[in-house]
Amino acid sequence: MADASGFQLKQGGPEVYEASWVLAQMGQCAEDLVADAGVTGDQSVLDVAAGTGVVARAAARTGAAVTGTDLNAGMLEAADRFAAEAGLKGIRWLDCDAADMPFPDAAFDVVLCQQGLQFMPDKPAAMSEMARVLKPGGRLALSVWKTRSAIGRAFATVLDRQFGAGTTEAWDMVYSLGDRDRLHDLARDAGLRDFHVKFDIKFARHADPAAFLTGAIAGSPIAETMADLPEDEHARLIGEMIDELEGCFDDDGLAVPVECLTLTARGASRPS
Ligand SMILES: C[S@@+](CC[C@H](N)C(=O)[O-])C[C@H]1O[C@@H](n2cnc3c(N)ncnc32)[C@H](O)[C@@H]1O
Repeated sequence: MADASGFQLKQGGPEVYEASWVLAQMGQCAEDLVADAGVTGDQSVLDVAAGTGVVARAAARTGAAVTGTDLNAGMLEAADRFAAEAGLKGIRWLDCDAADMPFPDAAFDVVLCQQGLQFMPDKPAAMSEMARVLKPGGRLALSVWKTRSAIGRAFATVLDRQFGAGTTEAWDMVYSLGDRDRLHDLARDAGLRDFHVKFDIKFARHADPAAFLTGAIAGSPIAETMADLPEDEHARLIGEMIDELEGCFDDDGLAVPVECLTLTARGASRPS
């Protein structure tokens, strides 16, 4: 499952992503994004860069008619399975590039994109496509991480020390669009209106930090290198990461604040 963004998951990855990131963090973020967009059961909703479909599922739980797209067909196959397991039938999945989507103009009441745009090589094209398929007055809600979290810092400290400086450099893409002005510019240039960026703190929470970090690493670009380590070496590195995360615990386990920017906007009417 190689991909243009350089940040896709290896075989078995969707399951690992669900059990680590979605459980700890993306699930709650998806609920927030659906609320930010004000999704209601009578709407048509597009989830762009859907991944394993956590946002699409949150939108579908309102009763909305949901379509999920992603560049990675493997992720969408898993998304279809996870939706069925959650008892959510009827979500439509389509693998396509966000910069070139096969939908007519003004096809959706709501367009959602959670933590996807920063990985796309042509962000203006992707944003223009999202604006194009949005109905005039329809609602866009899109989130990106603002800065590297304590989890990212723990990964960088431990993995760069173990495998050499720069090992995790490419992961900076995760935080590469955490800039309010750039989001404003992208929204303005795409012809969206009433755009607004909200800065808030999400949390990554997990009762079992070692299980979470093991899963998070297994879904990362360094998964194979880590998987090749002897078991005790692997456990030592996970232990070092937990040490780095000291201060990010509460009585329920790991509780890591993560800075997030959410762009909301409305679709503009287009000349006919
Ligand atoms: C960090 S994941 C986020 C997935 C999901 N939105 C979530 O919240 O869990 C980023 C996703 O963006 C997708 N992606 C990257 N570039 C893309 C593009 N140009 N078009 C569509 N999807 C893309 C990847 O395949 C991946 O599934």
